[in-house]
Amino acid sequence: MRRYHLTTFGCQMNEHDSERIKGMLEALGYEEARSRAEADLILFNTCSIREKADERFIAHLHEAHALKRRAPETVIGVGGCWAQSLKQEVFAEFPFVDVAFGPGQVHKLAEFLTSDSLSAQGYFEFEGFTGHLPAKRARRYQGWVQVSVGCNCACAYCIVPSTRGREVSRDPDELVAEIEQLAADGVREVTLLGQNVNSYGRDLPRDSRLTFAELLARVDLVPGIERIRYTSPHPKDMREDVIRAHAELPALCEHIHLPVQSGSSSVLKRMRRTYTRERYLDRVAMIREHLPDCALTTDIIVGFPGETDSDFEQTLTLAEEVGYDGAFTFIYSPRRQTEAAEMDDQIPHEVKVARLERLVEVIQRRATERAQRFVGRTLEVLVEGPSRTDATRLRGRTRHNKVVNFDGLADEGDFVIVEITGATSQTLSGEMSLLARAAGR
Ligand code: SAH
Ligand code: SF4
Ligand code: F3S
Repeated sequence: MRRYHLTTFGCQMNEHDSERIKGMLEALGYEEARSRAEADLILFNTCSIREKADERFIAHLHEAHALKRRAPETVIGVGGCWAQSLKQEVFAEFPFVDVAFGPGQVHKLAEFLTSDSLSAQGYFEFEGFTGHLPAKRARRYQGWVQVSVGCNCACAYCIVPSTRGREVSRDPDELVAEIEQLAADGVREVTLLGQNVNSYGRDLPRDSRLTFAELLARVDLVPGIERIRYTSPHPKDMREDVIRAHAELPALCEHIHLPVQSGSSSVLKRMRRTYTRERYLDRVAMIREHLPDCALTTDIIVGFPGETDSDFEQTLTLAEEVGYDGAFTFIYSPRRQTEAAEMDDQIPHEVKVARLERLVEVIQRRATERAQRFVGRTLEVLVEGPSRTDATRLRGRTRHNKVVNFDGLADEGDFVIVEITGATSQTLSGEMSLLARAAGR
């Protein structure tokens, strides 16, 4: 039996793709090795979103190289966004790599492994959805669903359009059938994935075209699916129909991740985000009007080229005003093949770090304040396993996507009811109610 080891970096799309890589390898008769040293095939599914992601991966790649020196038969494969963006250089810089493939060419890995090819191969076309491959899911009760691949935006800082190609949507009937199958396999929560989910469907043939809101409504009807999440919507395409869907569809969770990136209209313009601060705040107002309790999270970049102190102050005031339930905050990192990397007025690292610290303070303070609304409430929690900080307690997630650590007895994948007794910026804590083990909602 041949054995593989796969390490995944990056976003949920990569988590999804890795489940498909594993499914495909197991269909070919491979089994998962416990460690890299025990594997005949060492694989990496890579990310290149920021420089740190690259550095982390390269350290792992060198470790794989050391193993290969001791066992020269070992095959090393590199997939994902880093491989795609460095397709010219991969084999020149890392000659011990046997196969490299972009996110649109996962299926070619099987072709390589079943061929007699002894020379290194690279596969970098944009074709096919990894969603078409069999999956080996990490959790039996949660499933990723790839609704589209690629991105048609041109955000000046972002490498993704060059690593994932143009946006292509999957057929809605095929998606619904996949979700029905997931439900039949025991999945209770699905997360719909795309770089810009609410532009879903615009490229589909007229007779099968659905909007994202219509797709959500169809998924909501699938029996057994009790929670629907999606990521990420783009503020420019966030319309009232999707916001209403949150109010109307029982399975659609009370959480919207709406990446703002900056609170300054002039920075947003240079980022090519195609909305202004005001328009973003209008979207937030619409969400709050229809869904007062909905959790709202975001992504923010500090230190984009040319960001002045007053631009940054605008980001702080926006974060203050919106009051996010949580945010991913990033230091701007220049990326190859992006417009912003060529801009003149790059911000010194110390300034970026100082800005990040100030932003994190505001984000955390507001998130802590927001989280207090849950204290005293009883919330439905999907159990994900033992608490990471205290193994005698359990950890799960509310529909608002808040992590809860709680006392109680339940199995992974159960829905339970938890009385919330405390809240910090990141997590809630509580006790499982005697009403526990509710079967779903
Ligand atoms: N398609 C999604 C996710 C993109 S990547 C979306 O548009 O929301 C996730 C986040 O990484 C982005 O929202 C952005 O905040 C951050 N990011 C992307 N490129 C970056 C860069 N060059 N430097 C720092 N952060 C970056
Ligand atoms: Fe990158 Fe912008 Fe596309 Fe998101 S929408 S993947 S940030 S180019
Ligand atoms: Fe995801 Fe990283 Fe690619 S965030 S889309 S794996 S560059």
